[in-house]
Amino acid sequence: MLTLLPQLGIGAVDLAAAFLFLYGLHRMSSPVTAPSGIFVAGIGMAVAVLASFLYAFDVSAAARSNLPVNLGLVVVALALGGGVAWWGGRKVAMTAMPQMVAIYNGMGGGAAGAIAAVELFGNKAKGANALIMTLLGALIGAVSLSGSLIAWAKLDGVINKPVRVKGQQVFNGLVLLATCLLGVYIVVASADRAALIWAMPTWIYLFFGCALALGILMTLPIGGADMPVVISIFNAFTGLAVGIEGYVLQNPALMIAGMVVGAAGMLLTLLMAKAMNRSVSNVIFTNFGEVATRKQGKIKGSLKPTQAGDAGIAMRYAASVIVVPGYGLAVSQGQGKLYEFVKMLQAGGVSVKFAVHPVAGRMPGQMDVLLAEAGVPYDMIFQLEDINDQFDTTDVALVIGANDVVNPAARTDKSSAIYGMPILNADHAKQVFVIKRGEGKGYAGIVNELFYADNCNMVYGDAQAVLIKMSEAVRGLGLPAVA
Ligand code: TAP
Repeated sequence: MLTLLPQLGIGAVDLAAAFLFLYGLHRMSSPVTAPSGIFVAGIGMAVAVLASFLYAFDVSAAARSNLPVNLGLVVVALALGGGVAWWGGRKVAMTAMPQMVAIYNGMGGGAAGAIAAVELFGNKAKGANALIMTLLGALIGAVSLSGSLIAWAKLDGVINKPVRVKGQQVFNGLVLLATCLLGVYIVVASADRAALIWAMPTWIYLFFGCALALGILMTLPIGGADMPVVISIFNAFTGLAVGIEGYVLQNPALMIAGMVVGAAGMLLTLLMAKAMNRSVSNVIFTNFGEVATRKQGKIKGSLKPTQAGDAGIAMRYAASVIVVPGYGLAVSQGQGKLYEFVKMLQAGGVSVKFAVHPVAGRMPGQMDVLLAEAGVPYDMIFQLEDINDQFDTTDVALVIGANDVVNPAARTDKSSAIYGMPILNADHAKQVFVIKRGEGKGYAGIVNELFYADNCNMVYGDAQAVLIKMSEAVRGLGLPAVA
């Protein structure tokens, strides 16, 4: 009975943690409930961590003497890891989020790899089945760790060019093959360790070395701009590795959390690829920039700059405005000033809505988070499919730091890198104002014909600075608020 109690307790707490993960994830499906979803999932993680302390009641008599030291080390590790994450999470800039996600994802893969290493070096995985699962978790976890670190370095500008050499994909294939062969050898040879030429740990080191090298080699050739999709793939890998190690350890919380993360990561990857109209293999094996530099047809029309104040006043006299936020809004951190401006328009009786493209910015949901941060009510924010028809009957489309997501070439130009990507129909509005700093291209590296259209005016400048000027101009009108 005494030995059964800790196991029952651990099982019950693990199950509660798994339920909290799933419930938290469910709440993350809407921006309204997402903050509480993150909180609930966080509680689930705390419960899962607490459950690991319950194992202290379930150790053998021989291991009991090490318990105080081990528990002390666990507490120190938790304080260090938790402290760094708390500090980092509070300090990180919105545009640096993808880097942070890459690092944390790598840590998850590393943790799965470390569990596998403990099992392998300690010769704890008994039998071919357990060994194969442990090695699989080790391979996926190690690839995810080293690949995510390269993704972080690219997003952070530490590595600022894709590293491509001839025959790279064949070489990567050979490294994958070598890793798998090493794994097979470890499984076969583990039956008779005494007959090995080198001791088993040497083979395990070689296996991990190849797996880590594979993650680096796979990620180096991919362009920095494709990193969010790559991170999402590694996120799916990490989940899978954690789930497999959970199976090896027979830990239900790890199994469920791993599979949920794996499935969510894979779905997110597919959604991002679909919203960009690219396949996942195209992201991994094609150099996006090369497609983008294909010659574009000559663009008709001219760029027509206008003053921020004039654009602001024109919007004050419009009946309806749809705001299209993009990556540049996140760069300028102009979301607060944007909402101040929007509230002034609303006070003047203008109907204002926000249109969010699924891949606007550089991270899924980045625009929703930005707008929520500024306090924009959720009922003013519309996703592409819910608002696209409304541009035809709208007076002004205000495009702020967005480029590719409003580029009409996606509809018409078959040679364009973004051909087929659904776009927001900003060009269908009666008048379009585009805020951007100059003639910089978007992520896809192509010219935007919307900017040259007859109904479009450019307002040059940093988004935040332009929005301040727009607000000043509208305030300067001194008009009474329309009820
Ligand atoms: P982009 O097409 O990248 O365009 C952003 C524009 O913002 C640039 O043309 C730039 O022009 C302007 N800009 C930059 N800093 C600014 C500032 N401080 N003030 C004002 N403007 C500024 O952005 P988008 O329309 O949001 O499209 C996102 C792109 O990223 C898509 O192609 C998408 O496929 C890709 N992508 C998205 C994701 C996710 S999940 N969101 C993941 C990977 C890739 P100037 O330099 O002239 O100012």
